[in-house]
Amino acid sequence: MKRILVTGGLGYIGSHTVLKLLKADYEVIVLDNLSNSSLEVNNRIKFLSNKKFDFIKGDLCDKKILKSIFSQFEIGAVIHFAGSKSSIESDRYPLEYYENNVVGSINLFKEMANYDVKKIVFSSSATVYGESNTKICKENSKLSPISVYGKTKLIIENMLKDIKKAQPEWRIINLRYFNPIGAHPSGMLGEDPKNIPNNLLPFLTQVAVGKRKELLVFGNNYDTCDGTGKRDFIHVEDLAIGHIAALNNIQKANKINISLNLGTGKSYSVLEIIDIFEKCTGRKVPYKIVEKRLGDISELIADPALAKSILNWEAKYNIFEMCEDAWRWQDMNPNGYGN
Ligand code: WQD
Repeated sequence: MKRILVTGGLGYIGSHTVLKLLKADYEVIVLDNLSNSSLEVNNRIKFLSNKKFDFIKGDLCDKKILKSIFSQFEIGAVIHFAGSKSSIESDRYPLEYYENNVVGSINLFKEMANYDVKKIVFSSSATVYGESNTKICKENSKLSPISVYGKTKLIIENMLKDIKKAQPEWRIINLRYFNPIGAHPSGMLGEDPKNIPNNLLPFLTQVAVGKRKELLVFGNNYDTCDGTGKRDFIHVEDLAIGHIAALNNIQKANKINISLNLGTGKSYSVLEIIDIFEKCTGRKVPYKIVEKRLGDISELIADPALAKSILNWEAKYNIFEMCEDAWRWQDMNPNGYGN
């Protein structure tokens, strides 16, 4: 049986997707450089799935590793997560982001072409929309990424578009995530940022578990219900299911090249999230309102209709389940995978 190569498969979204692939009886190879993940994830996926899979520690910028994988395994399709993902960090270290995300993807796509592997699900991002003039994003909304991170994602989408033009037999689905939060309901997989969390939920849960003193709320004078930023939060389990749906689609459908929003179509403000989290978990989240964060936008919501019509996929988890699952993970793993 042809295997699925998952780059970045031990990361936050990658690990939840690999678990679903194994449960769907796919044979999986994971390539991960462990820059933002841990070998412990490997053990947990094997425990939860009761399945084995191949793990190769390596980097997409290492062409030798890629060549050895494609020559050693018969690969049917690729799910491409690997890449740096902090919007703030990307603006501080642009060249590292262009090298890691764009050059790494070029290396991957070239090796895929060399071995006639022409099916790919790419982990894109809602950050390709930037500060769009309408807060609800359709796939054909204006694409104007603000951060270098968002720009790398759009460059990679465009590279795939050009590959498709040159070689129409490629089957490509780009998944534009909105704000992934939550964790596997077992509490054994979750989001474990290596340093100080940039994103809202991991910082919030670290405050709730007592690892950090208080949450800093970046600005309360946006044009929103309570002045704080609003986002379309989506459960990581829904995202993982969306990847399986996209993979099944490119196995069957031909001549596809499309970008799809993976979001819920609803948004919540930072203060609403704090309130919902406290109600769901009974934990207090001390916070302080501070200045806006550079580059942040007031609100971003997905129009998820196209993913529904193309993949028959829609988000099922609600915001309460997202908060409960995020807390269970943090409560069971106060130091993430480190302990
Ligand atoms: C959400 C809201 C903040 C932290 C990021 C990245 C990227 C992308 C989606 C995949 C905003 C506020 C946050 C904090 C806060 N992922 N906030 N205090 O910036 O929408 O997008 O996730 O592609 O990783 O672009 O997510 O969680 O950082 O912020 O007040 O300590 O929470 O201002 O309104 P963001 P976020």
